[in-house]
Amino acid sequence: MSAAAPRSIWSSRWAFILVTVGSAVGLGNIWRFPYMTGAQGGSAFVLVYLLCVALVGLPLLMAEILIGRRGRGNPISAMLKVSEENGASPWWGLLGWVGVLGALLILSYYSVVAGWIVDYIYQTVSGVKVMTPEAAKQHFDDLLADPLQLIFWNTIFLALTVGVVARGVLSGIERASLLLMPALFIILLFLVFWGGMVGDMRAAWHFMFDFKPELLTGQVVLSAMGHAFFSLSLGMGAIMAYGSYLDKHTSIAHNSFWIALADTLVGLLAGLAVFSFTFAHGLKASSGPGLVFQTLPLVFAHMPGGQVVGAFFFLLVLFAAWTSAISLVEPFVAWMTERLGIHRAVAAWGTGLAVWLLGVAVCLSLNDWSGWKLFGLNLFDQLDYLTSRIFMPLSGLAIAVFVGWIMSRKNVRDEITLPAAHFLIWWRILRYVTILAIVMVFVYRLTNPDP
Ligand code: TRP
Repeated sequence: MSAAAPRSIWSSRWAFILVTVGSAVGLGNIWRFPYMTGAQGGSAFVLVYLLCVALVGLPLLMAEILIGRRGRGNPISAMLKVSEENGASPWWGLLGWVGVLGALLILSYYSVVAGWIVDYIYQTVSGVKVMTPEAAKQHFDDLLADPLQLIFWNTIFLALTVGVVARGVLSGIERASLLLMPALFIILLFLVFWGGMVGDMRAAWHFMFDFKPELLTGQVVLSAMGHAFFSLSLGMGAIMAYGSYLDKHTSIAHNSFWIALADTLVGLLAGLAVFSFTFAHGLKASSGPGLVFQTLPLVFAHMPGGQVVGAFFFLLVLFAAWTSAISLVEPFVAWMTERLGIHRAVAAWGTGLAVWLLGVAVCLSLNDWSGWKLFGLNLFDQLDYLTSRIFMPLSGLAIAVFVGWIMSRKNVRDEITLPAAHFLIWWRILRYVTILAIVMVFVYRLTNPDP
């Protein structure tokens, strides 16, 4: 690793890409993208999402990595350092706080969903087969109705996640990612192929890509932008934290491009596969967070060798979720160790405990406490709504303002080593288009209330 970067731990440029793709690719792509697309009217959602990735996500991905590398620290101290360097108010450090705490809120329900995956691995390996859509739905409903089971699987997943962060072996997961991320991609390609063979790929394609402007509601637009943030791990300091370990000579722009492309492709593939089966089995695309969990087991049950393929698939998804979850805890733990001098293991397990407690409430909100609602949403949905549709876009907006308008152009130019013309394109998009797009989405949402 280059000596120019005292804090870098990545063993190569590839390591950074792998770990960042590891953060980006996760349940967001495999679970959240299909269910959101299904619930939000298909193609309208997909189109806005793709636009947001290009005009908001990618420019912000670069901006976040830039702050992390320049500030060389956890998101909070990185924001403080870069603010100071550019003569800006220390209040900008708050942005780091919003990210770090928001990430823990995300983790509290993210790991509950990852727990569902662990349950599905267990079920698949033990040979449980759901042959009909009704059985698949029943199976999922039974899982959600059982708080002890939810808490049990959630605990296992959180322990796995915190265990890695506690030992500070972030770089250890790069080697596993090198193998498992491409494996996930290949198994998804296979599922798309299988969807073409036995599913209704034509319907899936039309559902996802036929443009139907009449479906564009305020809610669709806001949730599509929220998903672009969620899927690219933006606005929560995760990417900043990873960028802080990046050496000086790696191109932020090129890496960001590949990271965004890989993340988007994984989501689209998962969507095509899931919908081709959904429609073939006469299931409802709009069934919500259970969509993937009710569709795929059915596919594996009917596929020759499906028990093995299914187990492998869920295992790879679990790995993807794991690498994402790690990036949700790491920023706060980094802050506690660097700033408060707390031992890493204590910081990690302490944070894990707090997240776990909230996670218990999330598990209960799906059954025993499901009557407790605010604005018609239970705690699980509340947390998702609050983080992805409010925290992430607002903090993204602030990051765009900070890098586009507050940081001196020279400092920004130092980090983004693109040819001058290309630099200008990115810089202008960030300064005008990204900012305007986020503001417009909020305005559109506010002026287009749901029916
Ligand atoms: N991007 C991850 C996914 O798609 C989730 C995630 C990890 C995340 N880190 C994040 C989301 C930080 C927002 C912010 O599954």
